[in-house]
Amino acid sequence: ADTLGGAAAQSGRYFGAAVDPGHLGEGDYASALNREFNSVVAENAMKWDATEPNQGQFSFGAGDQVVSHARSKGMKVRGHTLVWHSQQPAWVRGLTGDSLRRAMIGHISGVAGHYRGQISSWDVVNEAFEWDGSRRQSNLQQQLGNGWIEEAFRAADAADPGAKLCYNDYGTDGINAKSDAIYRMVKDFRNRGVPIDCVGFQSHLDSNADLSTYRQNLQRFADLGVDVEITELDVGGSGAAQARVFRDVTAACVAVSRCTGITTWGVTDKYSWRSQETPLLFDSAYRKKAAYGAVLDVL
Ligand code: XIL
Repeated sequence: ADTLGGAAAQSGRYFGAAVDPGHLGEGDYASALNREFNSVVAENAMKWDATEPNQGQFSFGAGDQVVSHARSKGMKVRGHTLVWHSQQPAWVRGLTGDSLRRAMIGHISGVAGHYRGQISSWDVVNEAFEWDGSRRQSNLQQQLGNGWIEEAFRAADAADPGAKLCYNDYGTDGINAKSDAIYRMVKDFRNRGVPIDCVGFQSHLDSNADLSTYRQNLQRFADLGVDVEITELDVGGSGAAQARVFRDVTAACVAVSRCTGITTWGVTDKYSWRSQETPLLFDSAYRKKAAYGAVLDVL
């Protein structure tokens, strides 16, 4: 195949991009997206601040634009993200104890319920661990205690039983203290029947990334009986060094049968959150970069 999505589909995988619906009206953006990718995720439009700006008042316009674009093009949609310490609306910040618990469950029910049946996999919980493997001391952790992650997954399962439910994080791109802690949590969830189906590896990387345990790390999670997904791939740098990292990450996914797909965190360097680092597969004029060819080669 001569596109990322087409090549990924040959092994039953997807190749996706994070999308800002505000750019869908730009012809070059839409044509690169539609030609190359067969999955999308909203870069910001489905986050808590965007979807529930006031408690119980949901705002799905931007998220719905992403979903309707995807439906019209036959693309899958990943959901990102139901619960996160960042990009929470101001009203959530003031809540304590059971009020925060009710808000979290209400948010998950409202958003996952709205998109029920339309999401291939949800990032139910994002970035809940620190580098040393301890829990991040977010408002959720401090107010609700260790059980909050499990509660979030149970609420998501009730709201959209058909979606795969993922835990998603960064810095988990190899075997280290952080990925070890997440591994233990996933193993515990599987043993106790807590509904978790997948683990997302964001993979915000640089051109000097050490990928020596990347594949092995994906495989040990897969061996717990969950799918693994590369959910936010971008690689600071350019040329051959950048291409090497994109190629090795793609090859690692392809080598793990339960690695179901790769999402890059954007389409073009022009709109990347790390724009100055030119971390994506298309440059700011939508030209294919060396890294593009490297990915296509190994897909
Ligand atoms: C980023 C977006 O790309 C930015 O536009 C926004 O200002 C901040 O969030 N990990 C995640 C993503 O899970 O949601 C973040 O996205 C990047 C880091």
